[in-house]
Amino acid sequence: MTIELAPSILSANFARLGEEAKAALDGGGTVLHCDVMDGHFVPNITIGPLVVASLRKALPNATLDCHLMIENPDEFIPAFAAAGASWISVHQEACVHLYRTLQLIESHGCKPAVVLNPATPVHMVDEVLDMVHHVLIMSVNPGFGAQKFIPGALHKIKTLAEVRESLGLSFRIEIDGGVALDTVGDIVRAGAELLVAGNAVFGKGDIRENARKLLEAARTATLTRA
Ligand code: DX5
Ligand code: ZN
Repeated sequence: MTIELAPSILSANFARLGEEAKAALDGGGTVLHCDVMDGHFVPNITIGPLVVASLRKALPNATLDCHLMIENPDEFIPAFAAAGASWISVHQEACVHLYRTLQLIESHGCKPAVVLNPATPVHMVDEVLDMVHHVLIMSVNPGFGAQKFIPGALHKIKTLAEVRESLGLSFRIEIDGGVALDTVGDIVRAGAELLVAGNAVFGKGDIRENARKLLEAARTATLTRA
């Protein structure tokens, strides 16, 4: 299992987005997490395809992980794919026809993924596990950065890892919300491997160093995994 850090640009300074995103990648981040919010599915508004297109232009080789926290994602998937998204994840709670939505993402050349809110049980997505690149477990209520990690996410990660093992599948397990130096050890030991972090990378101090230290803490924790 390869541990990867996915810095979330939600906590970056949007007036210096390209520069800050590059610093996070220089610090060891390998995936840029782009939080898309519509003010309906979640109580906040962030970015759309235009910003993703600008990031793609600034970082031609970066993996852009677009986390859609929006209603009716099918309407916008083609635009995010055209903007240069690499991965597109949609919330189980936002998709009446989840299977169709995941197929739509794939048909536009992006890796499909599904996201679970804190109150949604892992088993709600059992039937699509064979078609996703990753499952994203929210460890905060989506909508804002810098919230406190909800510990119940740990048992969801463990359950998901067990289901993956029992089905012989290879999707990856991503965690999003409250990932920081004091939580990353438990998160990695539970079995998450794609670590989204906003505040811990961009919040304060040196972005490059923050990313480097977080990744180092995560990798050290894998050595003590049960
Ligand atoms: C929250 C977003 C997260 C957010 C995480 O709705 O999906 O990606 O940036 O922020 P931190 O790492 O600050 O908890
Ligand atoms: Zn996110």
